[in-house]
Amino acid sequence: MKFLSDQGNTSAAVIGMGYVGSTVAAVLAGEGVDVVGIDVDPALVAQLEQRRCWFSEPGLPELLYSGLDSGRLRVTTDYDLVADVDVVIIAVGTPVRDTELVDVYLRSACTELAKRLREGQLVILKSTVPPGLSRNVVAPLLEGSGLKVGEDFGLVFCPERLSEGQALQEMRTFPIAVGGWCPDSVAAAAAFWQRTIGAEIITCTSTESAEVVKLASNWWIDHNIAMANELAKLCAVLDVDVLEVIAAANTMQKGTGNVNILLPSVGVGGSCLTKDPWMVWRAARDRDVELNTIPVAREVNDSMPAYTVDLIVEELARSGKRLDEAKIAVLGVSFKNNTGDLRATPVLPVVNKLQQGGAEVTIYDPLADSGEVKRIFGLAPSETAREALSGADCIAVLAGHDRFAEIDFVALRESVAPSCVILDGRAYYSRETIDRFREHGFAYRGIGR
Ligand SMILES: NC(=O)c1ccc[n+]([C@@H]2O[C@H](COP(=O)([O-])OP(=O)(O)OC[C@H]3O[C@@H](n4cnc5c(N)ncnc54)[C@H](O)[C@@H]3O)[C@@H](O)[C@H]2O)c1
Repeated sequence: MKFLSDQGNTSAAVIGMGYVGSTVAAVLAGEGVDVVGIDVDPALVAQLEQRRCWFSEPGLPELLYSGLDSGRLRVTTDYDLVADVDVVIIAVGTPVRDTELVDVYLRSACTELAKRLREGQLVILKSTVPPGLSRNVVAPLLEGSGLKVGEDFGLVFCPERLSEGQALQEMRTFPIAVGGWCPDSVAAAAAFWQRTIGAEIITCTSTESAEVVKLASNWWIDHNIAMANELAKLCAVLDVDVLEVIAAANTMQKGTGNVNILLPSVGVGGSCLTKDPWMVWRAARDRDVELNTIPVAREVNDSMPAYTVDLIVEELARSGKRLDEAKIAVLGVSFKNNTGDLRATPVLPVVNKLQQGGAEVTIYDPLADSGEVKRIFGLAPSETAREALSGADCIAVLAGHDRFAEIDFVALRESVAPSCVILDGRAYYSRETIDRFREHGFAYRGIGR
């Protein structure tokens, strides 16, 4: 094979050991690949070396530490180690600022890599990028090595499609889309993923096609959630339970599957859904194509924190309470259930608005790092749910962590206000649980419920 030897152990370097890079590196090392993880952040490298990892992905710290203990995984800031490997995977951050890609990390990674690139190596780009970037930016930068893409080294784009919370399992089971510079690049990447993690390969006919695959997925998810959020707003005024509607609507067959309306919630956060749609919108606009659905969906999803606050105000008013005399206990501050990830969390604008309205706010999230919560929210989180709930007029469950099932609101009834409201921002309590809340004197309000 042109870019990957047919024999012996395959070795890999992962450039950018953040959430994605660490997941890929840990899984590969767990499958017996010799992996070197390279990151420009010496603090991150030192922490990994000291077996201190803050990624909230279940199982990831353990897998990283076992890779490091076995010697299969090494972490370093030293780019020189890329020269020894067969495959180089790039997973540095590609943020978007005001719809514009910030490509400085990616450019710098490619420039450093080009200084050490060796004949026969395969470069796999995993960072999310606008269509055309692999061909128009990455390839020329790598050719700064003096080597020719497609002849001396291979280049493919393989979108990262893992979802936080299930990333390790998905990395071992999800098909991998591969879009290559040339058939030899695709063949080498397919062989690499098949040999190492036994992945099913989906071949895309160009790097651009694979780049759009990633963006199309997140465009669809963001758009779908926006529809669910608007459906929830409609169901609320019709006094219809949106979850009942979604469950029934989703039984209808359409295309290759069923109608699949996702769930409404307090809002959309994280680093991907808030930026990838803008990346594709911008790419289209640069080519004189106006994508109208993207700004609309972003606006709808961004409206949900304010909508959630309105629901709280409305419910408080029913019992004659004003926001500026209320205490709100917020349970769950991460952007996603069952993670402690605070990146672009929609809970932050909710808390800010509640405080601007004069409410006293307490916060409890057993999964989020308390130092990070304090830094981002400017509030020290409570150590226990009981402490956060004490005297609350409203319990706002804004991340539906499974661990909150252990909190028995009914047993804590005496410690909250008599007319306490449970605001369900994404816990999606069952009808039975809601009836039980109501039997014990709680008011209940959900998004679209
Ligand atoms: N987080 C997700 O769930 C997710 C999912 C799919 C795709 N992605 C995409 O994957 C990419 C990485 O995302 P992430 O969440 O891991 O980002 P991250 O910010 O957690 O990690 C990026 C890492 O790259 C390092 N880095 C920056 N410049 C570097 C350089 N020149 N050389 C070496 N290291 C460098 C940073 O220090 C950081 O540790 C992004 O393009 C993102 O859009 C992320």
